Amino acid sequence: MHTQWLLARTPAEGLPTAADFRRVEAPIPEPGAGQMLTRTIYLSLDPYQWGRRRSGLEVPGEVCHGRTVSQVVRSNIPAYREGDFVFNTAGWQEYGLSGEGVSIFGYMFPRKLDPAQAPISTAVGLMGMLGLTAYSGMLVQCAPQAGETVVVSAASGGVGQIAGQLAKIAGCRVVGIAGIQAKCDFVADTLGFDACVSHKSATLAEDLRAACPDGIDAYFENVGGAVFAAVLPLLNSQARISLCGLVSQYGATTGGDPHEAWMALGTPTFARQQVHVHRLHVREFVDEHQARFLAQMGDWIRAGQVKYKEDLWPGLAQAPTAFRAMLEGGNFGKTLVGVGDDPTLDATLQARRASSNVLSA
Ligand SMILES: NC(=O)c1ccc[n+]([C@@H]2O[C@H](COP(=O)([O-])OP(=O)(O)OC[C@H]3O[C@@H](n4cnc5c(N)ncnc54)[C@H](OP(=O)(O)O)[C@@H]3O)[C@@H](O)[C@H]2O)c1
Repeated sequence: MHTQWLLARTPAEGLPTAADFRRVEAPIPEPGAGQMLTRTIYLSLDPYQWGRRRSGLEVPGEVCHGRTVSQVVRSNIPAYREGDFVFNTAGWQEYGLSGEGVSIFGYMFPRKLDPAQAPISTAVGLMGMLGLTAYSGMLVQCAPQAGETVVVSAASGGVGQIAGQLAKIAGCRVVGIAGIQAKCDFVADTLGFDACVSHKSATLAEDLRAACPDGIDAYFENVGGAVFAAVLPLLNSQARISLCGLVSQYGATTGGDPHEAWMALGTPTFARQQVHVHRLHVREFVDEHQARFLAQMGDWIRAGQVKYKEDLWPGLAQAPTAFRAMLEGGNFGKTLVGVGDDPTLDATLQARRASSNVLSA
């Protein structure tokens, strides 16, 4: 038997609660022809999963969707052997069945992982869609030039921490916006942003203005709401915005498309200052940019130019709690649930994980 989390209902409004999920024990399935059984090592928790659940894309009674890093237990697929590590979408459960590769948004599910190339957990983060999101939004859409001022919201989170470091590599003045002081300190002291202001401060607008004396040339939007309202008056002429996400709106009960509300708030400024707004859908960048992104990111990590913090919640039992926490800032870094043992962790990585969870060269 193994543990699964099922969606209990289609959530109507607000942020996730215990009533949205149901924990069950089910028999571990047997792989049929063309299938393999995997055990889940890491489960990725991402804001988009809440959108899926609220929109009805995920049906009550189903195992909650989630991208995973897993190990093959038994395989009826010649290309996969017992013990192989794979990136797949086993969801919120301890064991899952995967078929042969299917391409979703240009990504292969499942995909074999080489632990010698990168820690396997990064397949759902830095070296996966999350990293490509930061790369595409920052380097392709915002295209920051040396000397420009770049602002990144949710700056200590999964996407934000990478996006800001990429702007630093491009030679920009980079200002983060994050929640608690410990996150702001991490963003400035460990990640090397030039400044980081807290959106929890009553003086956010003034603090941001002081941190951006030359205005803002590029903004990587993860949050929306009050954070965007503070950014808006500081945008310079010809500024670029990558509209990556609006996490402050994901529990909104008012209905309507949060992107439209966001655009409406900015419309007069966008017209007057000729701000270029780019909606970001990472899937549109896979074909053209994935290979270059992986090669460059590998170089940056080896050169110590990119660091990466994970927030690992041990035990599948914690998945609903960690999911809610991530949506309201209770995470610190890329949110992962540790579902099963990771046999690839050597003593150095284990110690690093126990002390700070910061991955660096
Ligand atoms: N466009 C795409 O293709 C794509 C792909 C992946 C992700 N995304 C988007 O990227 C964004 C970041 O995702 P992630 O996975 O990296 O999550 P994350 O940043 O690790 O976690 C979400 C963060 O949002 C911040 N937050 C939550 N509510 C807030 C509020 N009311 N005001 C200000 N900040 C708030 C919190 O940080 P603080 O504690 O610092 O407030 C929280 O840690 C999300 O908007 C997501 O939807 C888009």
